[in-house]
Amino acid sequence: MAADLGTFPLGGPVPAGDVVDRADFLDRLCWELGQGHAVLLAAPRRTGKSSAALAALRRLAVTGTRTAAVDLFALASVRDLALQIADAAVTAAGGGVRVDAARAGERLARALAIDHVRVALAGLEVEIFRDPARADPFELLDRALRMPEALAERGGTRFVLLLDEFQEARRLGGDDLLRRLRATMQTQRLTTYLFCGSQAGVMRALFGQSRQAFYRFAHPLELPPIPDGAWRDYIAAKLGDLGRGATDAAMAVVLEATGAHPYDTMAVASRALYLVERFGRQQVDADLAREAVAAVERELAVVLEAELSAMPPRAREILTHIATASPVYAESRAPATLARVLHGLIADGVITRRGRGRYAIGERMLARYLAARG
Ligand SMILES: Nc1ncnc2c1ncn2[C@@H]1O[C@H](COP(=O)(O)OP(=O)(O)O)[C@@H](O)[C@H]1O
Ligand SMILES: [Mg+2]
Repeated sequence: MAADLGTFPLGGPVPAGDVVDRADFLDRLCWELGQGHAVLLAAPRRTGKSSAALAALRRLAVTGTRTAAVDLFALASVRDLALQIADAAVTAAGGGVRVDAARAGERLARALAIDHVRVALAGLEVEIFRDPARADPFELLDRALRMPEALAERGGTRFVLLLDEFQEARRLGGDDLLRRLRATMQTQRLTTYLFCGSQAGVMRALFGQSRQAFYRFAHPLELPPIPDGAWRDYIAAKLGDLGRGATDAAMAVVLEATGAHPYDTMAVASRALYLVERFGRQQVDADLAREAVAAVERELAVVLEAELSAMPPRAREILTHIATASPVYAESRAPATLARVLHGLIADGVITRRGRGRYAIGERMLARYLAARG
């Protein structure tokens, strides 16, 4: 069972009832996947990629499509990736007993002194190695990737596999791994891949540059912004369930401060709920909303500072210029470098171009943080 993430779920993919807006986007995403088109979702952290991707998987599962999700972020090796994909496939096959069965398989292989055994798990043929640590990781990966395809063939359905934080593949196995993945994936007829990645620039390059392994392998979709009205309705309904509410002025304070950014808005809503409960109030008013905003700004500073310090110094400088509305081309020390850094920030989804020499920072709380920090 998924973790209970609270009234205003924060930090991870949100449960079905908390996916604000996204209805049109999910229609489109599910349609593409249903057509067998691989899809790429590349956007910065905390913008709702995993939430949307998992919502799409849940919806597809209802119509009989087999689905599974693997997050590459926490994995340490190609072997881990292979085992995760195999595990996800067996789980999707309905094998709730998978761990026990795998252990029994290992014991059997050891007892028989053979390298591996083949077992049927929930109608899926699985090979279990006596000593998985000694099997060639790329070989394991090829076998793992064949499992969803085999399942789909058997079930006469499609299999949609979400590979989240996919840019991590390069860390796990470099270009060798990427080429290997692509080579296997492109021969599959019934397995459709949904790739998500927070290092948007890296992801766009991987799928968009002709010398890259995944060139044109997936169709890029943009996560649209969540409209203010959808947030107002959601926050009002959530507070209403708890016998509380928020004034229009309070909602305006929240959305003005967050720019409707998914994580930041959820964080302020959650903080506002904490404050009304703590003060034994019934309504979130504008003052309380401002207090919630200030509290989230303080907490977010640590995260934003860490993200900024991971950027090249030149990028930080240029972001500060944009945040303080000073023209970026005014300091034309090295126009070529400037153009390259701007291009990188756009590719990463951190800024958007608003006209000649004009740019805007996507996350409003980041823009304000930078402006205050100077
Ligand atoms: N559609 C959405 N509706 C409501 N909250 C969202 C939505 N998308 C993202 N969030 C908020 O942002 C947080 C991070 O979402 P997540 O999907 O994990 O982002 P990502 O995968 O892009 O890092 C969630 O825990 C939630 O608070
Ligand atoms: Mg995510």
